[in-house]
Amino acid sequence: LPIDQSGVWRFRDLLPILDDPSHAVTLREGNTPLYELPRCGKIAGVDWLLAKHQGMNPTGSFKDTGMTAALSVAAERGFKVVACASTGNTSAAMAAYAARAGLTSIVFIPEGKIAWGKLSQSMDYGALTIQLKSDFDGCVRVLNDLVKRLPIYMLNSVNPYRLEGQKTPALEMVEQMDWQVPEHVIVPGGNLANSSALGKGFEEMKRLGLISRVPKISVIQAHGANPLYRAMQASGGEQLEPVVADTRATAIRIGNPASWKKAVRIIRATGGWVEEVSEQEIAQAKAEIGAEGIGCEPASAVTLAGLKKLTRDGRIGREERVVLLLTGHTLKDPEYTIDFHRGTLFSDQEASSLRKPPIVLEARTDAVLKALESSIQL
Ligand code: F0G
Repeated sequence: LPIDQSGVWRFRDLLPILDDPSHAVTLREGNTPLYELPRCGKIAGVDWLLAKHQGMNPTGSFKDTGMTAALSVAAERGFKVVACASTGNTSAAMAAYAARAGLTSIVFIPEGKIAWGKLSQSMDYGALTIQLKSDFDGCVRVLNDLVKRLPIYMLNSVNPYRLEGQKTPALEMVEQMDWQVPEHVIVPGGNLANSSALGKGFEEMKRLGLISRVPKISVIQAHGANPLYRAMQASGGEQLEPVVADTRATAIRIGNPASWKKAVRIIRATGGWVEEVSEQEIAQAKAEIGAEGIGCEPASAVTLAGLKKLTRDGRIGREERVVLLLTGHTLKDPEYTIDFHRGTLFSDQEASSLRKPPIVLEARTDAVLKALESSIQL
């Protein structure tokens, strides 16, 4: 059955959200690889570092696991039109799953502030793409208004069925580790739904007696989009003041996260932390993950950058097992990678030994030989 090939629906007993599971709209999502990152581990000061690469999903991000769940519910209940506000990955996933189910989808994205790969996906999958002259938070505001007036099914991450799908990588992770539980799971923080979804997965496994302990879940934000970090500093997570967000990690360029209370709950319940990282730190970490042959989009790289901070002051020890959640594929935002290597990512980009800008030469062997001599050891 198609649903048995899905890393989400093979756990259908734990997500009883459809009247008939054979109605599931699936692109065979989930079943993503768990990679070792020994060189990144060494850089970050841990002996044992793994990456659960959710960018290896059908549309290239972790959003597919949630979208198969919520879109299936929309289709089973007979909705004809679905919509979301997005920084690009949710919209790509929604457009693809809606197309599979034959539903109409409407995407609201901030004009000029999402990566090209993601924008192209919503068009490729046939969504009506609406670029608002605003940011993500402005898109959410308009969509919240629209759904009160029109029969549209909303697929933002406040949709509870999304979280049911997004809890399944926690199950896969433990399964892939032979039922061992890592000490730490580190996730990027944007709209702040994913941290609690994973937490739900671990907590349910514990309740079922499949594991004896839940890992510490830590959330990392970009400095320019850090409302949760600020909230933890100012009030221990009691109150959150929205910020005007700005970061080249456009997936997490969010100033007013919808699900912050859920994130605070799981961070506190598991004993994890919230950290912020600079644009430089994100760029360096992304290059380090790339140089290990894995790659990810900028928002995912905050996890490694954050891990470095957590090991530096002893919050994470060398012998503790850490899993980074890589949320998006490197090809989502190739412009970022090219700008990093050309040295034009942002105005104060520091030099990095990992920078490898392309070399342009005349098509002559002697010219290539000369360039090789000065570039690599042969
Ligand atoms: N990483 C990537 C690649 C994302 O696309 C997002 C969110 C996050 C991390 C943050 O996850 O919101 O659950 O805290 N992207 C949303 C979108 C907002 O519209 O695609 P979160």
